Amino acid sequence: MRIIFATGNKDKLREIRQILSDCSIEVISMRDAGIEGEAEETGKSFEENALQKARYVYEKNGKRDGDLVVADDSGLEIDALNGEPGILSARYMGKDTSYREKNADLVKRLEGVPDERRTARFVCAMALICPDGRERVVRQTMEGRIGYGEAGENGFGYDPIFFLPEYGMTSAEVSPEVKNAISHRGKALREVRDIIISEYPGVMS
Ligand code: IMP
Repeated sequence: MRIIFATGNKDKLREIRQILSDCSIEVISMRDAGIEGEAEETGKSFEENALQKARYVYEKNGKRDGDLVVADDSGLEIDALNGEPGILSARYMGKDTSYREKNADLVKRLEGVPDERRTARFVCAMALICPDGRERVVRQTMEGRIGYGEAGENGFGYDPIFFLPEYGMTSAEVSPEVKNAISHRGKALREVRDIIISEYPGVMS
């Protein structure tokens, strides 16, 4: 059995391979499956966008027998900014603006906002399409607060301003192992893994 992951992102591929390492499932990227182009992301929610990406790959793959398709869509929701940047996280201030600038801008917009109102979460929706076309979507979050500046070198994107109160540091300061264990994407991947195992118990043998 194969999973075609609708991403070109090497970090995401590594994560899903690690989480599925005890199953007899091969994980390949959509590019490795020979699928060109990019799905449109016109949905109004993480779930809709994840499904759009998965359907694009499912259709392009010719609905091949035995292939599962997985796609994710994720982003950062800041409560004091009415959920911004939300589904536009990757495009906030333009795709080519550096995360140093995006992070500085968000921190500036929260000037004067006290700790208890700086709540935020990373959200990940993950869509699974089975070979027969059945669709499932799961959603997981990682809760935290927006800090007052960047800290940490691990992770990517908005991690340096995402403070995890239980750890007393940002998600760019915790180790990659800890982040995988608690992150929106790690939890969504494990939920999808459990669905696959319940649908196809043979993958565990
Ligand atoms: P996607 O690849 O279309 O799902 O875009 C997700 C965007 O949300 C990324 O480009 C980041 O800006 C942000 N994001 C999602 N997950 C994380 C994370 O774990 N750390 C930091 N930023 C994240």
